[in-house]
Amino acid sequence: MSRVAYVNGRFVRHAEAAVHIEDRGYQFADGVYEVWAIAGGVLTDAEGHFARLTRSLGELKIPTPMSREALIVVLRETLRRNRIKDGLLYLQVTRGVAPRDHAFPLPAPTPALVVTAKRVDSAAAEARAAKGVAVITTPENRWGRCDIKTVGLLPNVLAKQSAREAGAAEAWFVDDLGLITEGASSNAWIIDAQGVLRTRDIQANILRGVTRNTLLRVAREAGVSVEERPFTVEEAKLAKEAFTTGAGAQVLPVVRIDGAAVGAGEPGPVARRLRRLYMEESRRTGL
Ligand code: PDD
Repeated sequence: MSRVAYVNGRFVRHAEAAVHIEDRGYQFADGVYEVWAIAGGVLTDAEGHFARLTRSLGELKIPTPMSREALIVVLRETLRRNRIKDGLLYLQVTRGVAPRDHAFPLPAPTPALVVTAKRVDSAAAEARAAKGVAVITTPENRWGRCDIKTVGLLPNVLAKQSAREAGAAEAWFVDDLGLITEGASSNAWIIDAQGVLRTRDIQANILRGVTRNTLLRVAREAGVSVEERPFTVEEAKLAKEAFTTGAGAQVLPVVRIDGAAVGAGEPGPVARRLRRLYMEESRRTGL
């Protein structure tokens, strides 16, 4: 069965899906995106991603391309046409097509909306989480508005490539104070030497991860002691456990940081428990 993408009002064969050469996403990265994890046909953590999409569009003054209700129909139909039960749903909105000029075009073009879906092998994903992954650290070099989920991801791309070349799954950015901000495509967490679950606060220049937000609540409800407080690379290496969160891999245990084993060098009990609790909660609150 061939893949199908939604492009500006039409479902088209994925291989033939295309946007205009003067799309501002293509020329200026003038656009935003969202990713939902699909589990058992459910759009997990649905509300959080819609809310962030609205916020990202608002920050860039890009008009909302369609109502929430209409968007849900498009997302569902994309899943149905691609027969996805477990996978990832990608949505991108750019400011639209206009002759190249840095300032916002006038009159404002119609925003361009693209939705794609891909299947994820859930057994392989579970096996990966059961084993844990390695991360590297890399200097923070992104712009000052990482709270907006824009498609301008070149530093993230380069960081991820460095990780791959080092045999790691993720790169954690480290700011000028030696504090970890977040990963190239995920938020960063540790269970510190005192047993406190820690992740960077959202006053910092990070993406307000939807998974992060739900997990904070889930962890508190489960009686875990949690603090939104920065940690250094050294603290991370001395941590009992570490993990990342994001729609891509939900809660993913980290077992090595820059080659040094975290704790016993295998996924810890808190990360494993939180992964399970998050999976349950994100489906329960999904669409
Ligand atoms: N990335 N930080 C960054 C820089 C991210 O790109 C992401 C998500 C996250 C986690 O956010 P959430 O929990 O809302 O998925 C944190 C997506 C999955 C991606 O770029 O594919």
